[in-house]
Amino acid sequence: MSDDLEDLYQDIILDHNRRPRNSHEMVDSTHNAEGVNPLCGDEITVYLKLLDEKIEDISFKGQGCAISQASASLMTEIIKGLSLPDVRKQSDILQKLLITDEDNPNALFEYGNLAALSGVRKFPARIKCASLAWHALEAALQGKTSITTEDE
Ligand code: FES
Repeated sequence: MSDDLEDLYQDIILDHNRRPRNSHEMVDSTHNAEGVNPLCGDEITVYLKLLDEKIEDISFKGQGCAISQASASLMTEIIKGLSLPDVRKQSDILQKLLITDEDNPNALFEYGNLAALSGVRKFPARIKCASLAWHALEAALQGKTSITTEDE
């Protein structure tokens, strides 16, 4: 990955950590679930308003490291308004970005700001930070109220 691209990814992460989008409780959510990383104690609750199989609204609240907060913020921005199949696609893309060995110089163009999280794969211990909110999202969609990064 070029230094310029790495800097750009870092700027996106820092921006979402400093000014997290959709970071608030949602009292009228239809689904919500808490995701916990038991290795550090960080937790993020994801709130959804699901209407006609579509994410009408999404927000999150919780304590966590910069990567977990930025990932949650990016997730809410990307997922809002999507149908459930499209939510799954985004989740699959994130998993791919976090584990692939290949650098894709077009990732930002292809996947939007989600590509910024691909820089995390250089730090395997932080992959769980980047996945925390996405685990909570998945749990909420399955009707669960909590999940940990250590659950299967
Ligand atoms: Fe706890 Fe990142 S260090 S989620």
